[in-house]
Amino acid sequence: MHSVALTLLVLVGASQAALLLPYTLPDDVIQLMAFREQPQNAAISTCNDVQFNYCQTTFNKFFGMDDSISWRNGTYIFNTVQKYLMMNVTELVKVCNTRTQFYQCLGTSYYPCMNLYTLLNKPQPDFPNAFDYVRTFRGLEWMCVGGFSEVVAQWGCLGTFPTTNAYLNCIANFNQTVAANNFCPAVQQTGACLNDAYNAACGAPGSGYFGCENFRITFDNSCWGLRCMVDSQ
Ligand SMILES: *[C@@H]1O[C@H](CO)[C@@H](O)[C@H](O)[C@H]1NC(C)=O
Ligand SMILES: *[C@@H]1O[C@H](CO)[C@@H](O)[C@H](O)[C@H]1NC(C)=O
Ligand SMILES: *[C@@H]1O[C@H](CO)[C@@H](O)[C@H](O)[C@H]1NC(C)=O
Repeated sequence: MHSVALTLLVLVGASQAALLLPYTLPDDVIQLMAFREQPQNAAISTCNDVQFNYCQTTFNKFFGMDDSISWRNGTYIFNTVQKYLMMNVTELVKVCNTRTQFYQCLGTSYYPCMNLYTLLNKPQPDFPNAFDYVRTFRGLEWMCVGGFSEVVAQWGCLGTFPTTNAYLNCIANFNQTVAANNFCPAVQQTGACLNDAYNAACGAPGSGYFGCENFRITFDNSCWGLRCMVDSQ
């Protein structure tokens, strides 16, 4: 087990400061998530594609990304947004304002568009790009809304944490345990692992809650009812 974890650390390779958490999932796990995200009542609200494209191009302008960039370029969007988040707190606040405008622009289309099931049911689905796309916006939702005061107060420590072995160990363990028959328990365990590790690195309890939620929110629609605990210390 220990040697497996060490091997994975090498595979993950050189890591950089990151507020959007760096890790990858294989297509079969992304497909499982998409299946679990299937909207219960698609008739209530749907993703309006014309509006989706319009709001995306407006979002892209802030980052200097051209109009053609869409959810199909999810990895590129993830890396570009990450770069701006890691510049400084001023830029992070601007990214959050841009995210709020995008959210308001989409209105009732927001959640139906930011959904793996919706995106992967389009022609020529691209699993890693769709996953990186939705987790970019889910990560922004956490750090720009519920986690905003914590990320502004602790931008440096929270951003640097994913370069540590403590982070890589939590993610290596997730990599080893996540599977169809153990999906939500693996998410829960990894959230708890990150909670303890962030607390140790950046101070309890706010940083642990931030780190756990920042991970968990990506799985909010595929693991209903999971919650991160605020340590009472
Ligand atoms: C965006 O995705 C499209 C479709 O996969 C691809 O043709 C295009 O080259 C991508 N653009 C960038 C900048 O990666
Ligand atoms: C934040 O980063 C941007 C881009 O590097 C830079 O132009 C700006 O001066 C920085 N602002 C502060 C307050 O450091
Ligand atoms: C585990 O990590 C490897 C190497 O980065 C990657 O190819 C694989 O998709 C990951 N698997 C899971 C379940 O995360």
